[in-house]
Amino acid sequence: MTELDSSVSGAGDTRAPARRPKRPGRQDWSSWPEYNAAATGFRGYWYPVTWSSHVNGKPLAVTLCGEKIALVRDNGKVHALHDRCPHRGVPLSFGDQQFPGTLSCPYHGWTFRLGDGELCAVITDGPESRICGKVRVQTYPVDERLGMVWVYVPLAGEEPHSLDSQLPEELLGNSFMLGGRIEPRTGNWRFACENGFDEGHAKYLHRTSLWRLFKPMPTWNITRIVPEGRWIYRVQDEVHWEADFPGVGRWTTKRWWKFQPPKETFNLGNTGKPKKVDPVIESYGFPGFASLAMPGMLRIAYPGFIHYEFYVPVDADHHQYVGVMVNFTEGWKSLGFYAKYLGAIRWLFHGQFSGQDAWMVDVTDAPPEKLYRPDVSLTAWRTLAEEETAKKRAEIGAK
Ligand code: FES
Ligand SMILES: [Fe+2]
Repeated sequence: MTELDSSVSGAGDTRAPARRPKRPGRQDWSSWPEYNAAATGFRGYWYPVTWSSHVNGKPLAVTLCGEKIALVRDNGKVHALHDRCPHRGVPLSFGDQQFPGTLSCPYHGWTFRLGDGELCAVITDGPESRICGKVRVQTYPVDERLGMVWVYVPLAGEEPHSLDSQLPEELLGNSFMLGGRIEPRTGNWRFACENGFDEGHAKYLHRTSLWRLFKPMPTWNITRIVPEGRWIYRVQDEVHWEADFPGVGRWTTKRWWKFQPPKETFNLGNTGKPKKVDPVIESYGFPGFASLAMPGMLRIAYPGFIHYEFYVPVDADHHQYVGVMVNFTEGWKSLGFYAKYLGAIRWLFHGQFSGQDAWMVDVTDAPPEKLYRPDVSLTAWRTLAEEETAKKRAEIGAK
């Protein structure tokens, strides 16, 4: 690729030659074909769709991986059915329960069994209706964890893996207190996920957030991506709190009212080495404070708590942000954390700070894109997604 296109500049022509970009960058995501095709999410995973307390006997409509789903709780258990009556296409979520263990369509009373989706009665066709047992709506596996309802969207009709095997290991077998926020957002889920693990932006975009009012942010870092099991970690080898940029000047977020940046590089949180690290968090020995796993599950480990983000694909242009903060304490200590969560963290971190991310995710428009050195975090994630999908397809024998 030539640096300048000089052909437009003829003799006597004093106009500046037209400039072309030195390197145009990546025009598409064809080097990650599975990722490229996953606009509406990766199938074959569990996704948190809503709080458990929001699902009761009245059906709730959700969209997940582009599929319309009706959730209903019957006898304590949540069921998920494809939200479309096969008769004339009316959403089943507009219906209600006329008999225990069933859901009836609001239009003509076709009644489906929640357990397997089979048409078990047609109210307007009498008790001998011949169509009963011949029609079925798709059902989806459902489970509940962390106070949320999780739905599995199959890739090729396979049985689901256990939800526990997909959750972060430290959330199994440890006691903890949890605070969280579920929010519908615009933008493709991949932009949200890439933003979450993006190495470059936090220091710059969030420099104005109230969450960082008293703490400076680094100017730039040297970061490496370390794969470990199903996770990839961002490991900070160097953190630079200020820098001189040739020809333009000095740049830093250090201010007189802020704490001084730490002297040493520390890989739990981005504020330096604390006096004390929570023993549960310390015991896992995470190599870096930000880690990411399929199908879009981010873990940010701080010395005293862990923040998780789940990027739940709704359709190609919408996702659901699920932000959860976990503190590994019990009893009265956890009440203290919860008060802190409700009083500050929920608003400052899950609210305003995360709102800056939501804004960027909404306006991101890629590809085409021209990646730079810190974007190794993005390319490592896309590569992980390709590898994990290949593994998954081999496991279930799907093409
Ligand atoms: S459309 Fe559902 S019963 Fe007719
Ligand atoms: Fe961010």
